Amino acid sequence: MDSAFDLVIFGGTGDLSRKKLLPALYAGFVAGRVSKNSRIFLTSRSAHVGEIVDFLADVFEKSKPACGIEKNSLTEFAGMVHIIGLALNKGGADWEAFAASLAENMNEQTARSVVHFLAVPPGLFTSTCGLLAEYGLNGENTRIVLEKPLGSDLASAQAINDDVGQFFGEDQTFRIDHYLGKEAVQNLLALRFSNILFEQLWSARTIDHIQITIAEDLGVEGRVGFYEGTGAMRDMVQNHLLQLLCLVAMEPPARMDADSIRDEKLKVLKSLKPLEGADIEKNVVRGQYGSGAMAGEVVGSYQQDLELETPSTTETFVALKAEIENWRWAGVPFYLRTGKRLPDRFAEIVIQFKPVPHSPHPGWSNGGINPNRFIIRMQPEDHLALRMMVKNHGSKSETLKEVEMNLDVVGDDGTRLGPYLRLILDTVRGDQSLFVHRDEVEYAWRWVDRIIAHWQARGDKPLTYQSGTWGPYEAHDLMTRDKREWFHESSGRNTGKDSNS
Ligand code: BG6
Repeated sequence: MDSAFDLVIFGGTGDLSRKKLLPALYAGFVAGRVSKNSRIFLTSRSAHVGEIVDFLADVFEKSKPACGIEKNSLTEFAGMVHIIGLALNKGGADWEAFAASLAENMNEQTARSVVHFLAVPPGLFTSTCGLLAEYGLNGENTRIVLEKPLGSDLASAQAINDDVGQFFGEDQTFRIDHYLGKEAVQNLLALRFSNILFEQLWSARTIDHIQITIAEDLGVEGRVGFYEGTGAMRDMVQNHLLQLLCLVAMEPPARMDADSIRDEKLKVLKSLKPLEGADIEKNVVRGQYGSGAMAGEVVGSYQQDLELETPSTTETFVALKAEIENWRWAGVPFYLRTGKRLPDRFAEIVIQFKPVPHSPHPGWSNGGINPNRFIIRMQPEDHLALRMMVKNHGSKSETLKEVEMNLDVVGDDGTRLGPYLRLILDTVRGDQSLFVHRDEVEYAWRWVDRIIAHWQARGDKPLTYQSGTWGPYEAHDLMTRDKREWFHESSGRNTGKDSNS
């Protein structure tokens, strides 16, 4: 059992808390990973949400925690949860009472960790951190967790980092990217750096290209207000996709500690070839979903979801080709892709190796030897696999077939921690290895800002793609131009050809 902690979720009755944080904490409690003596404070503009157990039952019925819902454990869990009304822009009696309840456990001999999780818009970060400091809630055993979006460009990200930095040291600041908490991503690091086999092959010498895709079937749903000012480049590429790229491309760290890992990731971001002008036109595709059909149902366009007359220039799809300018990766394209209202929900990294230079079995060749492929799947389930060619024993003639070697390892107790629970527990322990350093956030913005500035200067609309297709045709073109194709490993089919512009 991990030690007891106090967790304060600012924005505790909001979307992130309901959809991700509370279900993760409840699943952790049921699995015995969250101590019963822990306390979870949910701040809200108003503390009146009725009985906590009813509030949680409603939250879990919608968010469906992986462990299911069981009455007794729900009642016990509800006993750990406190909802408090707190204004985040001014102090007062509510803050005094809140500080007093946190202080109860701060006086213990071994003070427990107090984690402040800011699940609120960044506009409230500074005032909240200022108030935490004013009420003495930023001491040594406290940590602050910042949920994205961390700004909307380099300047605003720097301002947030500077503001938070006035009240919390960098070693107390945990910038969360939940993709780094996914089991398959952890396993990628374990496989890469604990097996001589992989590292020997991990470079331009043997790798042809790398694809990283986060595809979603949902549209913007109830998040239009947030999304319209954000778009896929800021919402997904600047953080999740670039973080995954860093983990795949980084040099082996000297130690698996936070500083060593973050230093290596930062070097990757610094080596990304900046995209400018004509390069952007050629190598970055942006799209916006139009109307279409999802699972047989007719769905409206992004513009209709927005309910605005003025044409929106916000992208809901990005596909791009990036290059890393260093010895290991020179000449290896990294294709990144993300989009909403695509036909399927999946997230995968695919490492495509080069073909063998010569086949000694021409007679065996079954229409060609497929190059090896290493697949790290994060959605819909965590899974790692290696595709290899073997002799086809079942066949009368001498042929080869492709098989998938499963490299998946489930936790010893047969369960896996969800990303948010893993990251919250890391925060409690003060382990920053899976969190993002301010320099990483800022270098990622530097790279992304150039592309967004180019789009803004052009001022045109993104390409429209039909909902339920794989994005604009130009995304397909991005690959075929290089004589390559997008892969959808869960079904083994390519995903570019049925695209629609
Ligand atoms: C969030 C984005 O960071 O990640 C959302 O803001 C997106 O727009 C989500 O839907 C995807 O996360 P996951 O884990 O559901 O793939």
